[in-house]
Order: sequence, then structure tokens, then C-alpha cells
Amino acid sequence: MLNHADLEKLADAVVAVIREKPNQSFSFSWLADELKTDSDAIQQAVHHATGWGYGLEIRRNERVQFISPPDSLFATEIQYDLRTKWLGKTVLSYRAVKSTNDLAAEMANAGAAEGTVITAEQQIEGRGRLGRTWFSPFGSGVYVSVIFRPAFEPESAPGMSVMTALALLDAIVACSPGEARLKQISLKWPNDLLIGGRKVAGILTELATEDRVISHVVIGIGINVNASPNEFPEEIADTATSIYREIGRKINRVELLRAFLRNLEKQYSTYLVHGLKKDHDKIRKYSSLIGHEVTLQAGRVRMQGLVKDIDADGRLMLQTDDGLQPIIAGEVTVVKE
Ligand code: BTN
Repeated sequence: MLNHADLEKLADAVVAVIREKPNQSFSFSWLADELKTDSDAIQQAVHHATGWGYGLEIRRNERVQFISPPDSLFATEIQYDLRTKWLGKTVLSYRAVKSTNDLAAEMANAGAAEGTVITAEQQIEGRGRLGRTWFSPFGSGVYVSVIFRPAFEPESAPGMSVMTALALLDAIVACSPGEARLKQISLKWPNDLLIGGRKVAGILTELATEDRVISHVVIGIGINVNASPNEFPEEIADTATSIYREIGRKINRVELLRAFLRNLEKQYSTYLVHGLKKDHDKIRKYSSLIGHEVTLQAGRVRMQGLVKDIDADGRLMLQTDDGLQPIIAGEVTVVKE
């Protein structure tokens, strides 16, 4: 009988071998030779992998064939075919946590490497901006935090929400090809993605500094993927949406997450060198605010003006009666369509 850790490792190894040839069935004895173990251990590992949600066809407890991956956010599955250079080399996946951002901050403080990814199937106290909660039911969304250790000044950090939103926007569109409804996707500065004006994803960027030097940035992303329309609590039922609600079919959360992490790695490398300069056209194309008259609430300060642009550091350029104001953070509401 294998101990739990060895069983998990072997189950991982079996899945890795058989998923490469999904049209073929493998005998337990062949797998045992290949993975330097015995057939009983392979049998245990195969059954263990089905418990993870892999669709496997098991014949007479002698042969196994790969049928389908699970739609569960766990590390092996997320890292499979991830194709990043450094982001996601460490992925830690949990069934339920208080908040992936809290956990990521603890890990970053304890020295976790840049690019560490933390995911959960559910958050008990998922946090949004401005002290709000983030609706985080089990199994239907993606709740993920990524640790960064940029060498730039804290002033450049706000743009990280925007570059993350762009990476996510591309991933959502790529995972739902040809969906007309996604022509309605937009980016609401600084951290929201909307479809048809309703919020489908939010980003919470949290910075830790020492003597004005960034020690780490945690970017937390919550995506409403497969939640049914009637699942949302009443207070957000009119303002929130999910990809499922918009396109009428469920999409694979792991594929979406992989596509997003891949984009995020590229987007971040560009951001380090150019800020958001190279994304200017895209930002203008998708922004729901540029060209609109808005009110902005930033702490106790309230302003009104016309949104002219989003600059290379991710600041909102607001034309007010007192001139053009660069805004780092705040809550924006469109006053005139
Ligand atoms: C917002 O729109 O207000 C930001 C929402 C951010 C939610 C994500 S879910 C993963 C990570 N962990 C959290 O507690 N919050 C972020």
C-alpha cells in the first residue's frame, strides 16, 4: 500500500503518460514497468486519479485509457501544457481558503518566488476593492492570486491592474471563439471587466513596500465563469454576470486560467519595459470610460470630468474645470452616455 504522497505522485505520473495518447489504452503491467512500480500500485493510482475528476476508461482493472481532463483547479492540471517561462512554475491549489490574496501575501512575506500562483475552488472571505466582498462560490469561478516582485517605483503599480485586465480580456475572448456577445466586453478602469455593462471579473492589486521600495505585489483575480444567473446574491444580481450567463454555455475553467496566465506573463514583460504604451490602441478600443463624462470618488475627494485617456502608468487622465488631472485610484461612474 502506497503512502498518500507517493500515491499522489504516481497518479500524476500515470495521468501524464496516458494523456499523451488519448486514443490508446495502456495495460497496468506496461505502466508498472514504465514507472518502475508494480501493477497493484498502478491500479491504486488510476483509481486515485478518477477521484480527482479525470475521465478514465478502466477495463477489467487491467487497462486504462485517458478520456477527459477534469475542470478542477488543481496544480498538475493547471501546469499541464501551460507553456510559460517562469509564471506558474509553482502553483498551489486549494479547495477552500479565506482569500487567495491573503495567502499569497503571507507566502510572499515568507519569500515565495515571483510568478507563484495560488488558486482556490472557493473563498470563504473573498475580498474586493474598497473593503467589499467578492462572491466566491465553490467550483464555478476562478479565484487566483499571482505574486510579482517588480523593481519599478510604487507609482507604476496601478498600471498592473490594467495590464492584468488586458491579459484576461484576451483569454476570455480566446476561450469563447466566435461568441457575438463578447463584442460587448469592456474594461472599466482600473480593475473591472464587463460584458454588456455587467461585471464579469475583478482585479485586486495589493502592494507591500518597505521604505518606498516594492517588496511584492499580489494581483488577485476573480472571474465569474460558470455561475448560473440565479446563483448570484440579490445585491449583485443586476450588476454582475458570468461568462456562462452571457454566452449560454459553460467553458473549461482550467483552459481559461492557463490562457490567462500565459498572456499575463507576456503582458507583464512588456509592462516592465514599456508600461502600457504598447497597449494604448487596445485600451482605447475596450475602455468603457474614455470619452465619457464621469464622476470620480477617490477617498473623500469627489471630482467630475471627461475621461481623456489612460496613460502608460495606468493613470486615468481626467479633464476637469481645473485642468487635466492624472488619477491613480478611485471609483468611477459614468454620468452621461
Ligand atoms: C474587485 O473587483 O473589487 C476586485 C475583486 C478581486 C477578487 C479576487 S478573487 C481572488 C483574489 N482573492 C481575493 O480575496 N480577492 C481577489
